[in-house]
Amino acid sequence: MKVFAVNGSFRKEGNTDIIIDKLLEGAKSGGAEVEKVFVDDLHINSCQGCLECRQEGVCRQEDGLGGIVAKIEEADAIIVGSPIYGNYMTGQLKILLDRLMGVISRITYVPGGGIKSITRLNPKKRNVISVLTAGAPTPECADDTLKLLRRMLGSLTNGGFMEEVIAVGINAKGAIVFPKEEWILAARKYGVGDTESYAEKAMDRNRDVLERAYELGQKLAE
Ligand SMILES: Cc1cc2nc3c(=O)[nH]c(=O)nc-3n(C[C@H](O)[C@H](O)[C@H](O)COP(=O)(O)O)c2cc1C
Repeated sequence: MKVFAVNGSFRKEGNTDIIIDKLLEGAKSGGAEVEKVFVDDLHINSCQGCLECRQEGVCRQEDGLGGIVAKIEEADAIIVGSPIYGNYMTGQLKILLDRLMGVISRITYVPGGGIKSITRLNPKKRNVISVLTAGAPTPECADDTLKLLRRMLGSLTNGGFMEEVIAVGINAKGAIVFPKEEWILAARKYGVGDTESYAEKAMDRNRDVLERAYELGQKLAE
């Protein structure tokens, strides 16, 4: 059982990273072999729009993309994470997804209208988890990102499950694991009246996210 995680955040040990690590910890506890990469470390060029991949399923640019495709193909579970930037995923992750589009899947037209994405990879069952983090207090800012991730990653599942972990109200690096004092300072900065209750709520919310991530990680390894 191999779990491959791709993090679109630039912050190592940032919020997305901490949640992904919790998922991987859960997966490892079930005996899975895990690997994580940061998209920013892969130095993948932007798509040049030649559309050749749509026909052949191969990108003509020679960079780190091929290695990532191989890791996705051999994985039994895939985790894709990103902070929300401007109500969307990070530019780095979007560049990777643009490059992957015609390589991992083929679009077919459905009779009567609409399109369907069919995998070009080994059609084995893969479980997929998306992890999104945001400073906003509510999750609507993740809607557009989820729309693309569900469509693209859905073509990889072949009967596996797709789940999402969305953490909101976390801006500072590592806020997902901030202790009470840090949340009280944040509450004062934002001019919140009841700093105690603000801190308690944030910590409860974050604890729930991390517990769920660990449990989902265990489920990945089942
Ligand atoms: C350039 C930039 C744009 C952002 N845009 C949004 C946004 O539109 N909505 C939001 O809720 N948070 C936004 N944020 C906050 C991040 O989503 C938040 O800090 C997240 O926890 C960062 O995750 P990380 O620690 O994994 O990098 C933005 C942060 C940056 C740096």
